[in-house]
Amino acid sequence: MEKRVRGKKIIIIVAAVVAAIAAAVGACAYFLLLHRYKGTEKIYEWSKDDVFDVATIATVEKQSGKDFVILNLADVQTCDLEDIPHYATIHDEITYLVNLVKPDLITLTGDQTWSNENLISLKTLIGWLEGYEIPYAPVFGNHDHGNEFSSAVAGVNKCCDLYENAKHCLFRRGPTNIGALGNYVVNVTENGRIVKTLYMMDSGYLDELTDEQINWFIWNAEGLKAANGGNYTDGINFMHKPLPEFSYAYRDYRSGVETVKNFGDVHVHYSLFGSFQKDFFQTAKSRGVKDFVCGHQHGNNFTLSYDGARLTFALKTGELGGFYADESVYLNGATAITISGDETRIEHVFVPSDKFHISDKYNVYYD
Ligand SMILES: [Fe+2]
Repeated sequence: MEKRVRGKKIIIIVAAVVAAIAAAVGACAYFLLLHRYKGTEKIYEWSKDDVFDVATIATVEKQSGKDFVILNLADVQTCDLEDIPHYATIHDEITYLVNLVKPDLITLTGDQTWSNENLISLKTLIGWLEGYEIPYAPVFGNHDHGNEFSSAVAGVNKCCDLYENAKHCLFRRGPTNIGALGNYVVNVTENGRIVKTLYMMDSGYLDELTDEQINWFIWNAEGLKAANGGNYTDGINFMHKPLPEFSYAYRDYRSGVETVKNFGDVHVHYSLFGSFQKDFFQTAKSRGVKDFVCGHQHGNNFTLSYDGARLTFALKTGELGGFYADESVYLNGATAITISGDETRIEHVFVPSDKFHISDKYNVYYD
């Protein structure tokens, strides 16, 4: 009799443990895979008739007489589930790059995460960036929205919340009526004078900027011109997807057109197709933008002068989420942009071949 009671007790305890484990696993799966974190919706309807106020633009101060260095991380592409075992390696690599380049500002040209499961990975990446105590400025890439438009566990407003609540992050969501949320501007100033304007444009999930985004860009550039004694400020455009001019520049470079110069190595191992951008190149160039920096195609990396501006395919950071048309290709590192007096230098920083590789392929490439 006593044995039977004890047996029942054991069965009840085992059943309770199994039920608790099942509930915990179910809750984890729900919150990691199924639940959608929508974040805070903040309505800001912009009009081109709005009064521009330069004081609303985020600024980073350049120390007088010293170079100002930007470290751009491209397509870090972490994921909540399968990439967790590799987080430490990617963190080590970014830390290595930060310690090597010693940036005053870190920019990220999109695809910080790559899958629908983006909440843990984005929080983790923000945690790493906060740890450096250096200002940073991200733009959205197509994968930051998830595998399909708006399919990510952390929706775009949630991602905006995470960035905006991070102490060292300069990201501020832009108007809600121009087609994409992640548009903002950062000025680099020296003794109060604007020495560089960084236009952080959200090429989002779609393949082109909207007319409203371009009008919003023009409104900022013209407003800054008025605030800068009637002269356009020197600009750098950061955007995830490449403009069509990236493919034109490479075509001319390969054809030996003399006006197209390379700054460093040229690696093109994947389609240069990125997006149609409604002649944004000319619009931006005619308003002071001299550099265009993009990410998106991990197998491509170059800096080419083209038609009075400079186009940079930023070097992909980390091995996660890599895809290459040619399996022998592996490009891994970051891009350093140095503002030095009137000159702006761009240099791609490859990670050493014996460091930070998760797979057995690392920085093996050909032109
Ligand atoms: Fe992308």
